[in-house]
Amino acid sequence: MEYIQVLELFAGLGGLHIAVNNQKDANIQVVKSFEINVNAVKTYQENFGHDVVSNRNILSLSTEELFRQNVNAIFMSPPCQPFTRLGKKLDVNDDRCNAFHHVLKLLPRSPNIQYLLIENVYGFESSKMRDTMLEILQSCGFYTIEFLLSPTDFGVPNSRLRYYLLARKNKKFTFCKHDHTSIVKEFPYCTCRVKSLNDQASICSNCQREVNTNISSLVQQNAGNAAQNSLVNPGKLHSYLDKETDIEQYAVPDKILLRYGNILDLRTFQDSSSCCFTKGYTHLVEGSGSVLVCSRSVTIEEAYKVYNEFKDTDSEAALKSLRKLKIRYFTPKEVERIMCFPDNYTWPKDISDKTKYKLLGNSVNVHVVTLLVALLLHS
Ligand SMILES: C[S@@+](CC[C@H](N)C(=O)[O-])C[C@H]1O[C@@H](n2cnc3c(N)ncnc32)[C@H](O)[C@@H]1O
Repeated sequence: MEYIQVLELFAGLGGLHIAVNNQKDANIQVVKSFEINVNAVKTYQENFGHDVVSNRNILSLSTEELFRQNVNAIFMSPPCQPFTRLGKKLDVNDDRCNAFHHVLKLLPRSPNIQYLLIENVYGFESSKMRDTMLEILQSCGFYTIEFLLSPTDFGVPNSRLRYYLLARKNKKFTFCKHDHTSIVKEFPYCTCRVKSLNDQASICSNCQREVNTNISSLVQQNAGNAAQNSLVNPGKLHSYLDKETDIEQYAVPDKILLRYGNILDLRTFQDSSSCCFTKGYTHLVEGSGSVLVCSRSVTIEEAYKVYNEFKDTDSEAALKSLRKLKIRYFTPKEVERIMCFPDNYTWPKDISDKTKYKLLGNSVNVHVVTLLVALLLHS
């Protein structure tokens, strides 16, 4: 049996490490990882031990050192700022691409690397960096397949459309009849969880997609408690919430309510979607993540009718109306669950909520990457 030893680069909180640990077969493990942010490294150590992660700039990694790591796979989420919708889109001209480019340039001299998984933001697929990456991978003899997927595609109530690349040297990807220039926008196998496993059919009667028992059982066993709950209440936010939350501690402040009331992305317990949580959550408003309406007695329509009537003339009356909705931020633990981190994921004691949101906003949806690792290995 082939043993897969993974080097995790730009490791952050280790979302890709969890995806590796989630694999049903024990023939894959993360043996080394690199990350520059001290708080991320401390958190990584808390969860995966002190030996795996090094607090290092990836630009300092040499071919010799890569070889010495004795790895045959690289999984990485390089910085996304050069490609984000809201950024300057400097692409290859942004210095934050340098470390990624550096790793790609090591590949032609690292024949031991057989597998790659790369994650980035929506927008990367149309960048020059992606063209450069594909050129290098093809010259090294990798077969590649690219995806644009969101957790909502898998019943997880959160939008986080992301670009993913899977690459491997010795085995073509045979599961999609796609040409190698188009991007796959639908996971190729059934992920209907229980259903597909009980069916012995090779095509799922629910989604009409092919059943791959490796992937179905992975979904069933390892999707995390929250995603398991969604079997009972498909994709509702309430399955991902803390049992008790101090609404005051996480309340959206009055000045935000008053000034930005109309651009808050409001969700209720019964909603089956939420906005992508970004690293700016709780200190930026627009597009940084959803907030939760906790009141069950006042409707959003009623409260906003009064707010919009008075916001320019009587701020106290406008505020009073929105306060009745008891609008709060999702707690870091809730964001973690929505991103399908396991319930036993822990944080060092001195990491603030603000830092947790920042690191989570940079991280990956563990459920989606768990399935992609399975595809890389089993398809
Ligand atoms: C998109 S995040 C990765 C998220 C990660 N997959 C996770 O699960 O949290 C990119 C990470 O790369 C780190 N980083 C950026 N430039 C780096 C460099 N030159 N060397 C090492 N780490 C770097 C950042 O600190 C950040 O944590």
